[in-house]
Amino acid sequence: MWTRYKILIFSYLMAEICAETHSFSKREVDPGPYFTRNHTIFEGCSRDSQHYEEGSVVKENCNSCTCSGQQWKCSQHVCLVHPELIDHINKGDYGWTAQNYSQFWGMTLEEGFRFRLGTLPPSPMLLSMNEMTASFPARADLPEIFIASYKWPGWTHGPLDQKNCAASWAFSTASVAADRIAIQSKGRYTANLSPQNLISCCPKNRHGCNSGSIDRAWWFLRKRGLVSHACYPLFKDQNTTNNICAMASRSDGRGKRHATKLCPNSYEKSNRIYQCSPPYRVSSNETEIMREIIQNGPVQAIMQVHEDFFYYKTGIYRHVISTNEESEKYRKLRTHAVKLTGWGTLRGAQGKKEKFWIAANSWGKSWGENGYFRILRGVNESDIEKLIIAAWGQLTSSDDP
Ligand SMILES: *[C@@H]1O[C@H](CO)[C@@H](O)[C@H](O)[C@H]1NC(C)=O
Ligand SMILES: *[C@@H]1O[C@H](CO)[C@@H](O)[C@H](O)[C@H]1NC(C)=O
Ligand SMILES: *[C@@H]1O[C@H](CO)[C@@H](O)[C@H](O)[C@H]1NC(C)=O
Ligand SMILES: *[C@@H]1O[C@H](CO)[C@@H](O)[C@H](O)[C@H]1NC(C)=O
Repeated sequence: MWTRYKILIFSYLMAEICAETHSFSKREVDPGPYFTRNHTIFEGCSRDSQHYEEGSVVKENCNSCTCSGQQWKCSQHVCLVHPELIDHINKGDYGWTAQNYSQFWGMTLEEGFRFRLGTLPPSPMLLSMNEMTASFPARADLPEIFIASYKWPGWTHGPLDQKNCAASWAFSTASVAADRIAIQSKGRYTANLSPQNLISCCPKNRHGCNSGSIDRAWWFLRKRGLVSHACYPLFKDQNTTNNICAMASRSDGRGKRHATKLCPNSYEKSNRIYQCSPPYRVSSNETEIMREIIQNGPVQAIMQVHEDFFYYKTGIYRHVISTNEESEKYRKLRTHAVKLTGWGTLRGAQGKKEKFWIAANSWGKSWGENGYFRILRGVNESDIEKLIIAAWGQLTSSDDP
């Protein structure tokens, strides 16, 4: 009796806690009628032909449902995974297919946007930077397909997984810098660079896993530099309490480029610091972006992420607007930073030949095409061509053999 009573109280407490909506019963805790009813009529709720006692709580995607008064009372959050939209995309001819990713299941839409992206809208300063033009001969033909890792095998770096750390500002910057240092040093320095070093130590981006700006990330790469990803690996759990800088990555000023501290792990010994030139802006012209990539290496692109982008599995991405009448509340948009690594053409939606970029995301290799995605090229899809950033690896004369 007592345990059932406690369960009842618990269910009312839960109802109060979760009652962001008004769908929960607001009745007083009054065990009297409950016990009387208990002996006479059926209690509890059913779901998938299973019986649940009064007070049971089950999770349905991002919502909690409590069995209360023989009915399920559910919270009404908008979930990140929206099965109707996934269905809509897969039944349509949009040129890409969608997947229900288990890592996103159970998150609210708001949480998805808050934790999985993490680049602040570009500052006016960044947007007003002068554009640079690659010196790649204008007359030389650009190939129909280009993949950076084929031209520079072993010198470019695959996608990492930011998990619930909203720091695409750090992941994309470290990855573009690492590729370019490897390419410009002609394979002398091929280490991947540490996004965790940026997240935990960039003093001007104190938000860390709560978004940051890419101009500050590049400022840090120029002024302080980063150690390798092997030296300063990602934390297993990202949270605000463990976000203390473990690495004062400042060189000793005598041309020796090493951090003043040892790597915060026992495997990697090299605490060498890698630095970059100030960043520069590449033109939004599709041809210019291609010339920049083929000549100097992958570039950073700032894009607008819409809700459907989370479901991308394969194909050429274009934003699909849900036709669902409820779709209004699913529409969301936020800034994200990724790395463009190549391009190509393919027969896509409606059998038409379509041009695409190849881009690396930072949601792990189980997302998209092995961590990469393809997106329409030449039409500024999701603003992908709006702001393209690159930098030079800073190699001193003592670096050159
Ligand atoms: C989506 O995936 C989750 C967990 O991986 C699963 O529980 C759920 O039933 C799936 N939903 C749909 C509509 O396929
Ligand atoms: C934060 O992470 C550390 C270790 O990574 C862990 O010990 C701690 O419990 C976490 N804190 C929270 C609030 O999750
Ligand atoms: C893009 O640049 C190329 C030359 O690099 C030029 O031929 C072309 O007209 C430009 N496109 C636009 C839309 O300005
Ligand atoms: C890309 O689209 C955005 C928003 O629609 C716009 O602000 C920007 O100027 C566009 N850029 C180019 C190069 O077309």
